[in-house]
Amino acid sequence: MNFLTKILIDASSAHLFHTEEYIQSRRRLFKQLIQALVYEDTIKYAEKKLSTSLIEFSVQGVAKNGQPVIYSCKGYRRASFGRVELSAEPVLRTCSGQVSETVSVREFLSEIAGSFTIAAEFMERFIQELDHTLANDTAALFYANEQYTYGADNQAIRLLRNMPYDDIESGLLRAHPYHPCYKSRIGFDAVDNLHYGPEFSPDIKLVWLAVRKLNCLSIASPSLSELDFYQQQLGDQLIQFNTLLRGYGCNPDDYVFMPVHPWQWLNQLLPLYTADIHQKNIILLGEGVETYRPQQSIRTLANAVRPEVHYAKLALNIVNTSTARGLAEHTIANAPVISDWLHRLVAEDSYLAKELNPIILREVKAISFSSACEAIASGQIACLWRESLYPYLTADERAIPFSGLTEMDRDALPVIQNWVARYGVYEWLVQLLTVSMLPLIRLLYAHGVALESHAQNMILIHKDGWPIRVAFKDFHDGVRFIQGQVTHSECLTILRSTPRQHLALNSSSYISASEPEDVKNFLYSAFFSMNLSEVALFFDLHYQVAESTFWCLVNDCIMGYQRDFPEQYKQFQLFNLQSEYVIVEAHTKRRLQNESSVRINRVKNPLFSQPLPSSSQPIMEVSHHE
Ligand SMILES: Nc1ncnc2c1ncn2[C@@H]1O[C@H](COP(=O)(O)OP(=O)(O)OP(=O)(O)O)[C@@H](O)[C@H]1O
Ligand SMILES: [Mg+2]
Repeated sequence: MNFLTKILIDASSAHLFHTEEYIQSRRRLFKQLIQALVYEDTIKYAEKKLSTSLIEFSVQGVAKNGQPVIYSCKGYRRASFGRVELSAEPVLRTCSGQVSETVSVREFLSEIAGSFTIAAEFMERFIQELDHTLANDTAALFYANEQYTYGADNQAIRLLRNMPYDDIESGLLRAHPYHPCYKSRIGFDAVDNLHYGPEFSPDIKLVWLAVRKLNCLSIASPSLSELDFYQQQLGDQLIQFNTLLRGYGCNPDDYVFMPVHPWQWLNQLLPLYTADIHQKNIILLGEGVETYRPQQSIRTLANAVRPEVHYAKLALNIVNTSTARGLAEHTIANAPVISDWLHRLVAEDSYLAKELNPIILREVKAISFSSACEAIASGQIACLWRESLYPYLTADERAIPFSGLTEMDRDALPVIQNWVARYGVYEWLVQLLTVSMLPLIRLLYAHGVALESHAQNMILIHKDGWPIRVAFKDFHDGVRFIQGQVTHSECLTILRSTPRQHLALNSSSYISASEPEDVKNFLYSAFFSMNLSEVALFFDLHYQVAESTFWCLVNDCIMGYQRDFPEQYKQFQLFNLQSEYVIVEAHTKRRLQNESSVRINRVKNPLFSQPLPSSSQPIMEVSHHE
């Protein structure tokens, strides 16, 4: 029995759910849950001011025995898009004069059902997602504490801030900082989570298939040489796989090779595609030789032996945070087209290419197989290869996912601590904002395109901790623009539109918008309101940078761009980043309401009417957060 299985089923060791880690995870879960429910206005609650900024939130409910129950917690309404942030104190449950800590998700949601807006058919699903999140997160924290506890000399610990990029991807523990179902991974059982969850740095071998071309959509960037590509992917195994295929009496010209995730093979393909396998539409070639490791998104795997090799993003029939993680066929068809277009956009814009130099991690090849025998929706056997970050980095550049910038390291200090200490809090922050925001603002204003740049889709490149530039990824369904109104829109005429049945399952998953507001709000949903708000709250907590100062610095950066490119003034109005309100996606509502209901949040924009610092030296304002 290995260590991982031991923590789940060995009765001789302390059980996972008797640990401090369990309590820590449970408190975080309730914190994120109530924050999201209050912020997205999906529960009826009362608010009582306890001081100038501290608020008591309370929700009424009814216990099983009919007694009234009150749940209460303390927190703040933050300047960053009005985000609700609870204090570290646990959520309390008061019933029949007894006050205790809230411990059960099911009890909490059942008791407050009368105050909670959820479609009845989604209640069980939501409870399940929260319970799985708690179990998976506890296992991750427990594992991390076992692995990375300080010894007598602290040298034994590998700190995230010193690790290579790929290792940080699986070293990060927190996952989504806002979504209450941040580690739901529905589909995985407890052992699957240990075998395939990124926090456990598992060694994963890709399962390679040969799939019949007739049943496939296979598309590649013209920049790619297929032969070289497969040679790079498989090396000597390529000959071996071809021999195997011929041994089945098949002509290799009729097939393409593609990897699938081992979990997907065992749990979805083996049971559901027997006829396709029997009829040789799918032929199992076997495990790849090299080891891969999951990145934060779980379904994208990085080669652990040769980091310069393309990442493999693989369809995985799990639901994580809000979404089922298959790879829809139209997004496979669009992947290289969108990537090549974005790459060209950047390359031909001298301001982007020469001054900001962002990296576009292109999705260069993608394959989707559809069953020839069964009425199974496509998207389950699909892969997409994304360029690795490593070949783009110069010798002295290092990289860290954006989400890592707001995590604590294994020495209990912020991951960014040394960098901020070395360069100065404001200098470092202004540089971070400059290198990360300007490419996004340029893409929006000059080219009409918004990227879904939440913290998992963005990477900071630094030299000795000093922010230099950024890398973007995840484009096949993570861009939004108005067709015909973007630079080089002629490259996009071959894009497949989003099928109606896809929209019925995920109404916000489309790339072609009809209104500029829709494009702008896409950037707000991912970048400003999620990604940057986390940075704002982190700098307030750890470095006493007031949120108002933070958003002032952000505004200063936008205004600086507008001063430098006054000829784009029409675009500044079209995509007004300083509007009083913005519409952002209500992430949690997506788990509570069906696709036809409105699941957006109209929130106050902290960039509205911000006083600008009069010089490049920011106004030093101390945080009022208590
Ligand atoms: N800080 C974070 N912000 C957003 N998502 C996060 C974060 N940390 C982990 N995640 C996880 O990463 C995934 C983000 O979804 P998204 O659609 O951007 O990625 P993906 O398409 O699954 O994969 P990739 O980004 O590797 O192409 C989700 O599974 C989400 O739970
Ligand atoms: Mg992503």
